Amino acid sequence: MNGAVTGVAIDAAEFSTTLLAWYHGHGRSLPWRTSRDPYRIWLSEVMLQQTGVQTVIPYYETFLRNFPNVEVLASAPIDEVIALWAGLGYYSRARNLHAAALRVCEDHDGCFPETVPELMALPGVGRSTAGAIRSIAFDRKGPILDGNVRRVLCRLYALQDDPRSSSSEKQLWQWAETLTPAAAAHDYAQAIMDFGATLCVPRQPRCDQCPLTFCCTAFAQGLQRQLPRKRQKKTIPVRQEIALLACHDGHYAVRQRPLQGMLAGLWEFPSVQFKEPCCDDQLRISAAEIAGQDDISSVVPVGRISHLYSHFRADVHVFTLCLQALDHRQISDCRWLDGPQLQTLPLHGSHKKIMQTLIADTAANAADVVRSASKE
Ligand code: ADE
Repeated sequence: MNGAVTGVAIDAAEFSTTLLAWYHGHGRSLPWRTSRDPYRIWLSEVMLQQTGVQTVIPYYETFLRNFPNVEVLASAPIDEVIALWAGLGYYSRARNLHAAALRVCEDHDGCFPETVPELMALPGVGRSTAGAIRSIAFDRKGPILDGNVRRVLCRLYALQDDPRSSSSEKQLWQWAETLTPAAAAHDYAQAIMDFGATLCVPRQPRCDQCPLTFCCTAFAQGLQRQLPRKRQKKTIPVRQEIALLACHDGHYAVRQRPLQGMLAGLWEFPSVQFKEPCCDDQLRISAAEIAGQDDISSVVPVGRISHLYSHFRADVHVFTLCLQALDHRQISDCRWLDGPQLQTLPLHGSHKKIMQTLIADTAANAADVVRSASKE
């Protein structure tokens, strides 16, 4: 027994017809929906793999302005690609994107392949992304099983097992195959994703507005809020980090990370990460060390930001250091950039947060100065 309520049979034709009718009245208009260019569809699907629609939109538009087609992307330096990805997270996607563009140009003459196996041979394209590209770009049947579709199917069939087990995975793909119609592939793929994203949502599914309750087993059994079964919460490790905002004459020290490894090639304020928890005194001593200062009172703690990575959380303790004179021996291998220059620099996520706070604070201070000056 696979944990689904036995005997659930859904009329696939009735299901897809109803879903498509709903989509034609309620589908979202999104920037990647104005084109059937496989390059644009592929780009949007890769960006949407681990990131929400609203976050993706500005990145998608900027990316397309800079890399309007697969040839331009393939011939761009990887640094430029990563720079435009900065802030979107999961940077292996940017490296895979670039590698896949090269593969499309070299092995497929610049034209995206149409079959699921050929699409899956491209770096960064899994089975669901391949199905999405095939259906949306080529209007050919290509079942998908992203997070939204997974949730919809778990509820439709009232799957009680852990949806991430390998037997559930197999079952879910089978249901996805069964329900995906041969015709209207382009609309169906987007319809089921929109349905999951707007009605069959994780916490409070909008069953009162749902056109598919007639065939939903979870709804019939009042289980829609319990399904899909929640994953056991893993406690994620927390790593402490120090970041130093070293300032001289309105300019801040920043450096580029190595071109290999985590957050490769992105920029950051001088920092150090600790595997073991540290007390406040140790943090301050380390901050002074990064700053090349013997006197720990020269570095001032200004706050802490938290940032979630895929497998740990970083608690970043931010210190400032104001330098009257610049001694390059103190903070080596850095560039010194002002606020506007920092805004365009590809800082990685947690340091982008620091920069945004920093810039906001600086602007607020400047406004206070203006305000108090005008009172006098
Ligand atoms: N999530 C993944 N692909 C999507 C798409 N094409 N439209 C909306 N949400 C998505």
